[in-house]
Amino acid sequence: MTKFEGRNYCVVTYGCQMNVHESEKIRGVLTSLGMLETDNVNKAMVIVFNTCCVREGAEDRAYNNLIALQNIKKENPDTIIVVCGCMTQQKNGKYNIFERLPFVDIVIGTYNINELGDYLLRYAKKKQRIIEILDKPRGDMDVENAVRDDKINAYVNIIYGCNKFCTYCIVPYVRGREQSRKPQDIYKEVKDLVQNQGYKYITLLGQNVNSYGKDLDEKITFSQLLTSLCRIEGDFKIKFMTSHPMDLGDDLIKVMKDEPKVAKTLHLPVQSGSNAMLKQMNRHYDIKHYMRIIKRCKRLIPNISLSTDIIVGFPGETEKDFNQTIKLLKRVKYDQIFAFMYSKRSGTPAATFENQVPEAEKKIRVNKLLRLQKIIQQEKNKKYFKRTYNCLIKQQNGVAIGITDGGKEIYIPGYKYYNQNYFANVRVEGIRNHKLSGVIDE
Ligand code: SAH
Ligand code: SF4
Ligand code: F3S
Repeated sequence: MTKFEGRNYCVVTYGCQMNVHESEKIRGVLTSLGMLETDNVNKAMVIVFNTCCVREGAEDRAYNNLIALQNIKKENPDTIIVVCGCMTQQKNGKYNIFERLPFVDIVIGTYNINELGDYLLRYAKKKQRIIEILDKPRGDMDVENAVRDDKINAYVNIIYGCNKFCTYCIVPYVRGREQSRKPQDIYKEVKDLVQNQGYKYITLLGQNVNSYGKDLDEKITFSQLLTSLCRIEGDFKIKFMTSHPMDLGDDLIKVMKDEPKVAKTLHLPVQSGSNAMLKQMNRHYDIKHYMRIIKRCKRLIPNISLSTDIIVGFPGETEKDFNQTIKLLKRVKYDQIFAFMYSKRSGTPAATFENQVPEAEKKIRVNKLLRLQKIIQQEKNKKYFKRTYNCLIKQQNGVAIGITDGGKEIYIPGYKYYNQNYFANVRVEGIRNHKLSGVIDE
């Protein structure tokens, strides 16, 4: 019996789905030490901060919340504080946590979370601070028995890292080069999640899922992987993120159209509506190429739900460039957008570009986009009328609701819901105050 058995741990997560899933793996590691989860940091013997550094705001939040742990440590010196995630992996980041926060006991990078159990045991023995950041994985990074939060949707890694080097982005520096998981391992994990654990959605994760397989000896593309996963028996659907517009081919659109198990939703980050900005960002596509994909998706998959990421205030972005992003939003009419103000990341090329846009201007632009998107979304609600969507049926406050692949809720008043979580077709029959209602369409 170790001193960890029966004690509490708490994991605090910042950043993207990748990090959310990595926290699930960390929980798996801690559970296997016999520890129990708590969401109260004051009650935890082990506190893990899984950090993000994609924008300055994310770093500041994690750092400030870490400082607050100092008092917990003072009151209870037995507490072990661990920091991991992308912030630790930066070479010249804003904060050097190990040096600046002496009450942090263990600092590890993104490649060795699977070894956290060993670090904790070593720390418990020697009581010496540990810092270990790897430049690349020592071997297989998979952790068996991740403890997942969500009981409906399960995240599954298919490819780690990124080779794209968009000029604004820190991710390739902190997550290293692309590394695909073996298709057999992915297949096995998905099969288990669906058939033994009852998951209804599987979300395949990668910074750029379309690069899947390029680094493997075995010849396999992302759309081939998707097709093989669709052959797994069961009532479930597959989502994936993120796709890079440069690598998204017609083969993937075809699989999305033809396979009922592939959810009809696509997150396709555009970043900017201006070709000049896309070039400066090193995105390797122009708006003509991007719009070709969007048009094809809409034509072949009429019910598709589309979302995107946009950066405003990239260095050199003029009013004219920004207006092209506005124009693009009006053309595509996304179901959802994630708009960010450009944040300078040291070590990336764009951090040294001239003509940085003032913060106040970025704020004005981001608010303009969000206001416009709100109007587009409200108008878009009309398109749902009389259409049929394959939905996950759930019960909420005694009423059955269907959730579309894009996450839109359709109330089904009067419907007697007989079992938890299954897919069925729902036809939208009413729209009131932007709320949709419908009937089951057999
Ligand atoms: N691999 C994914 C996601 C990367 S991070 C992709 O390529 O789409 C998620 C989003 O954060 C990006 O799409 C981008 O819009 C945003 N982002 C990345 N770096 C940023 C920066 N320096 N400032 C502001 N937003 C940034
Ligand atoms: Fe960052 Fe670009 Fe890679 Fe996405 S594709 S993670 S934005 S470098
Ligand atoms: Fe994700 Fe943030 Fe790292 S967005 S990959 S957790 S820098």
